[in-house]
Amino acid sequence: MASSIPISMGSLVLGVFIAFAMVGSVSSSRFDELFQPSWALDHFAYEGELMKMKLDNYSGAGFSSKSKYMFGKVSIKIKLVEGDSAGTVTAFYMSSEGPYHNEFDFEFLGNTTGEPYLVQTNVYVNGVGNREQRLNLWFDPTKDFHSYSLLWNRRQVVFLVDETPVRVHSNLEHKGIPYPKDQSMGVYSSIWNADDWATQGGRVKTDWSHAPFIASYTGFEIDACECPEVVAAVDNIKRCSAAGGEKGYWWDEPTMSELSLHQSHQLQWVRANHMVYDYCKDTSRFPVAPVECLHHHH
Ligand SMILES: *[C@@H]1O[C@H](CO)[C@@H](O)[C@H](O)[C@H]1NC(C)=O
Ligand SMILES: *[C@@H]1O[C@H](CO)[C@@H](O)[C@H](O)[C@H]1NC(C)=O
Repeated sequence: MASSIPISMGSLVLGVFIAFAMVGSVSSSRFDELFQPSWALDHFAYEGELMKMKLDNYSGAGFSSKSKYMFGKVSIKIKLVEGDSAGTVTAFYMSSEGPYHNEFDFEFLGNTTGEPYLVQTNVYVNGVGNREQRLNLWFDPTKDFHSYSLLWNRRQVVFLVDETPVRVHSNLEHKGIPYPKDQSMGVYSSIWNADDWATQGGRVKTDWSHAPFIASYTGFEIDACECPEVVAAVDNIKRCSAAGGEKGYWWDEPTMSELSLHQSHQLQWVRANHMVYDYCKDTSRFPVAPVECLHHHH
């Protein structure tokens, strides 16, 4: 019985720690708690925990998070357009605002029936993108829901598919390379017609007789430091960074500063077996390799 005292003291300390760790973070599975349609409201449909967004010859559609965030993890489960999705793009991304914005992008490029979707990722830092990578997937993303996540902290941005890392953008500020860490970001998704470039380089056009093109969503999760609009940007940055005095964010744990060994192996596997394009290797586009390519060893 005497041992109950240390245990309850322990759980009290743990409780306080968790309370700190949870400050500013949100996690939910309901679309309307975290997000709102941003255009084409009549192109949304809700079925219980599912939200469906459609593209037809009249309009695409898009939604955005109600809040902005700094650091943490955002995940959505998506089932991409079934059948003929050629010409369509469904995007899931985080972005800040303004001419020097930062952005982390997943873009799902549709294809004709039976041909594989491609996933294009990109990273913008201070308004500059041009860092495309493309991969195919190890499953058919139109048959079931799969989770797509962005993990962001002061050391790295990790793109994950079903918790498998498919891309890492590391902080290389010590090499003089800018890293996105001082602008809060919204979370967005949209579906639109991009048949001028999306499918087989734009050769295959959207076949509107197959419309509407429907992307389905569920499992909305945001575990991140929320940056309320009413709080000044500098105060949000301070609140969200461990250096600013707020302690205990899980994404600032040392284990979050780089991939685990297991994750590094997973990423190597993805790169060896599923990557079809890497800007770092495109010497016709970049005769001199972009500077971060010399240091990103993943
Ligand atoms: C859009 O598609 C519908 C159904 O296929 C068709 O009836 C309509 O004429 C089309 N509208 C335009 C502007 O192409
Ligand atoms: C579509 O399928 C073709 C043929 O398999 C493939 O070459 C292409 O990479 C696929 N994806 C896109 C987006 O074009």
